[in-house]
Amino acid sequence: MSPLLEHNADLSGLNTLGLPARATCLVRPQTLDELEQVLAERDPQAPVHVIGEGSNLVIQDDLPGLTIALALDGMIKVREDQEHVWVAAGAGVHWDDLVAWTVEQGWQGLENLSLIPGTAGAAPYQNIGAYGVELAQVLEQVTVMEIATGKVSHYSAQECDFAYRDSRFKGRDKGRFIITGIELKLNRQARCNISYGPLKQHFNDLPADAVTAAAVREQVIAIRQSKLPDPAVLANAGSFFKNPVVSAEKAQSLTAAFPQLVAYPQAEGVKLAAGWLIQAAGWKGKRLGPVGMHSEQALVLVNHGGATSIDVLALAAAVKQDVWQRFGVQLEQEPVVLP
Ligand code: EPU
Repeated sequence: MSPLLEHNADLSGLNTLGLPARATCLVRPQTLDELEQVLAERDPQAPVHVIGEGSNLVIQDDLPGLTIALALDGMIKVREDQEHVWVAAGAGVHWDDLVAWTVEQGWQGLENLSLIPGTAGAAPYQNIGAYGVELAQVLEQVTVMEIATGKVSHYSAQECDFAYRDSRFKGRDKGRFIITGIELKLNRQARCNISYGPLKQHFNDLPADAVTAAAVREQVIAIRQSKLPDPAVLANAGSFFKNPVVSAEKAQSLTAAFPQLVAYPQAEGVKLAAGWLIQAAGWKGKRLGPVGMHSEQALVLVNHGGATSIDVLALAAAVKQDVWQRFGVQLEQEPVVLP
């Protein structure tokens, strides 16, 4: 049976920034068969938009054509050996349910990515990352369905072109595939990454066997809750800009002028903390109409209530312009803009 199509559907609860928008036609397939059917029966001329929980989205305007909110669920152990466990999850699984389940099983690998909003299927799209770990490090493969043909295929992590908050699904294959599931390779023994400053500090005074996936998850949750607003309480889409990478020369001249600047040398260039730049430009906690930059983390744009995409994009443009004028650094927006 075809899944139900909702016409003129309200999307305000399907984007964590809480922006008002409607979809001409919304469908929530729960199985691969349903998804295949939806694609086969659609108007091939009309655009297709795919959303998860809408936690990294700016819905700029009503979405024409077909909007697919994937509801494919299921989390299973696929196989294991002496050292590793492979787990698979449907694209519609709430990401943190997957993290919580694997950590409860005593498997290690996802704990640093605790509490990231969104779905498992959205995770590879922008290569989610936090506290020293990126999805690319634990991903075994991604399963996709091609929109044009309904053909299902698998891509290994190496084939996904993962980079900082980037993948082929956001780049050369944008709009071509729907991510339907992911498979992850986790460790049976704890080999936790506690390189992130506050994590290192916390575990410094504790014995080595205290560094378990469960303990790291607990700390990550505490750190996130202290800085990042819960979208269920204060509407937001996480970091609104990427941390920009500049040349070593540019970083050097900035550090000379602003000794407090937070900068991380990379293989190529130097990554700057966009939150620091935005705070230094005076935007932390500042409002422009119904939107503002968060008072605990200046990189997060929040909707205090009643905002439209015009308000959001106006604040983003003002912050970008100010950072450019003060520091000569271009900020790049992180959330995806639809349509
Ligand atoms: N900082 C400030 N002021 C601020 C915010 C940050 O000075 O208002 C400084 C901090 O003091 C720190 C540095 O900037 O020295 C970095 O801050 P933080 O560790 O909070 O992380 P971030 O670089 O701002 C990135 C990710 C987050 C992720 C954290 C932790 C991006 C765009 N954001 O933020 O991811 O949780 O690191 O690893 O890379 C997201 O993508 O939505 C997201 C929340």
